[in-house]
Amino acid sequence: MAYTVIIPAAGQGKRMNAGENKQFLKLQSVPLIVHTLQLFEKDEACEAMIVVANKDEIMEMKQLFSKHGLSKVAAIVPGGRERQESVYAGLLEIKKAESVVLVHDGARPFVRPEEIQRLVAEVGEAQGAVLATKVTDTIKKGSREQMVTETLAREELWAVQTPQAFSYKLLKKAHDAAKKNGFTGTDDAGLVEHIGGRIRLVPGDEENIKLTTPYDIGIAEMILEKRKEDQL
Ligand code: CTP
Ligand code: MG
Repeated sequence: MAYTVIIPAAGQGKRMNAGENKQFLKLQSVPLIVHTLQLFEKDEACEAMIVVANKDEIMEMKQLFSKHGLSKVAAIVPGGRERQESVYAGLLEIKKAESVVLVHDGARPFVRPEEIQRLVAEVGEAQGAVLATKVTDTIKKGSREQMVTETLAREELWAVQTPQAFSYKLLKKAHDAAKKNGFTGTDDAGLVEHIGGRIRLVPGDEENIKLTTPYDIGIAEMILEKRKEDQL
């Protein structure tokens, strides 16, 4: 099924501590954001990419995208202070109400086409879908004083990734409601859940990491190497 993808890339990358937005960090001499966009450039089902960028980085991104031949970038729009505001800015660029919309972090360059396909297949009018993996660590809740208050049942726990997929109408409705009610979620599915929408968990792959701290750069280089070898 054809879809449009919104790519939030308007963060600061503070935890990466690179002195610049981590989207510009080079992995095997190609900037992180370009790696991510290349995934969707190659996916035939992807009709358009809407990139959300920091206002003063729009020009730099524009030049990068044309240099790397990323022809599906339909717009680069300025983001907001929180990721949720950035996604909303991207949503406002979509005019086709019937379409399926994916939201995918600019900092997640390793999702595979088959995972996107499985995800999109699960999207309905009143239902969204997210890629996720079952957690392997035991997760405990802790108090501010760092005392355990609860141990959660691991069989029920999933670590949620992006892409997350929705019908345009459902996601727009969820974001509009969140904006109106001052509700902040940590992912887009959370906003849909908040208005009673149902979200399907689609098993993903642990390689679909989000580059967050300097530690992740080593892992990313390793994944890239491994994929290069697999192609030989
Ligand atoms: N993002 C965004 N707008 C924001 C905040 C985040 O578009 N106001 C994007 C980031 O650019 C990233 C994705 O959302 O691609 C996931 O966010 P995260 O990993 O937290 O990235 P940063 O916010 O840049 O990093 P940090 O929280 O360490 O500053
Ligand atoms: Mg952040």
